[in-house]
Amino acid sequence: MQDNSNTILSEALEAISAADDLRTLDATRVAYLGKSGLVTGLLKALGAMAPDERREAGATINIVKNRIAEAIEAKRAILEGAALSTRLAAERVDVTLPARPLQRGTIHPISRTMEELTALFGAMGFVVKDGPDIEDDWYNFGALNIPAHHPARAMMDTFYLHAAGRNRPMVLRTQTSPLQVRTMLAEPPPIRMISPGRTYRSDHDATHSPMFHQCEGLVIDRGITLAHLKGCLMDFLRAFFEMPDLRARFRSSYFPFTEPSMEIDIAWDRKTGAIGGGDDWLEILGAGMVHANVLANCGIDPRDYQGFAFGMGVERITMLKHGIADLRNFYESDGRWLSHYGASPFAPVMLHEERGL
Ligand code: DAH
Repeated sequence: MQDNSNTILSEALEAISAADDLRTLDATRVAYLGKSGLVTGLLKALGAMAPDERREAGATINIVKNRIAEAIEAKRAILEGAALSTRLAAERVDVTLPARPLQRGTIHPISRTMEELTALFGAMGFVVKDGPDIEDDWYNFGALNIPAHHPARAMMDTFYLHAAGRNRPMVLRTQTSPLQVRTMLAEPPPIRMISPGRTYRSDHDATHSPMFHQCEGLVIDRGITLAHLKGCLMDFLRAFFEMPDLRARFRSSYFPFTEPSMEIDIAWDRKTGAIGGGDDWLEILGAGMVHANVLANCGIDPRDYQGFAFGMGVERITMLKHGIADLRNFYESDGRWLSHYGASPFAPVMLHEERGL
């Protein structure tokens, strides 16, 4: 028994020291200490012995068992430490390697302009309103004082959608002006809102696209006059084009939803295309005092409240600001064009006051 135990012990210690990975070590553990392992076999044999013999042999086997278990644990700690070192070495990051070239995205110029509009008008207390692209004819035209057969409908090359079960057609909104109606119906004055968003007309060339963007603006309060309209839009134009003394003219015009109506032109040089200088004028946006019929259609008493509204093409002001010649470029998803004209996502849009204008 004694001899047998000693042989098992020395063989086990040899196998443990030879095990060079955790799996082999565990197989060794099972071979000696497992349910049908050699040491377990010795313990089982104790049952057949006389009591004296059993006491002595039991003590020996226990010593053998404990030494094997200790040797296994010691070897396990060594192997685990080695495995960790190997992993750490394999996963080491070489901080001296040059960085991989970064494919950096840019903010699309249209999105950027809309962010700028939001920041500039936001600084003047305007909130942003959003509405559906598929619009009820009444919001797009009727409530805005553009009755059926009004020539303004034909001028706008409207996409009509004949929705089943409706007696009024739906349209792809031709302008962001329906947001005026939706806002006035939804909340009482005072109102200051802008609504940058998509608009649609059946038209396609270098300066027109069937889908384009507009930004509407609306102010409703007591005692609002043309002076507020002019001050607000001058501040906006000078901040947007970053020209503190940009000249603009307010030219009489016609829109069904405003009275009086005007178009606003900024100074530019026809020959060089430079904005702000020269003796030529460039139309930039439409505006006017909200027509009494529109106020009344939207549940506001025109004797009590007045307001002004304006609308502009987002592509148009973006093209002018950045010198972009062809509107179709906006929608071609050409990576080179986008990385040239797109804005850095890390450059914040500057607010009106921060530009010192
Ligand atoms: N909705 C007009 C258009 O699409 C632009 C416009 C002009 C909007 C005058 C207005 C405004 O709110 O007062 O041409």
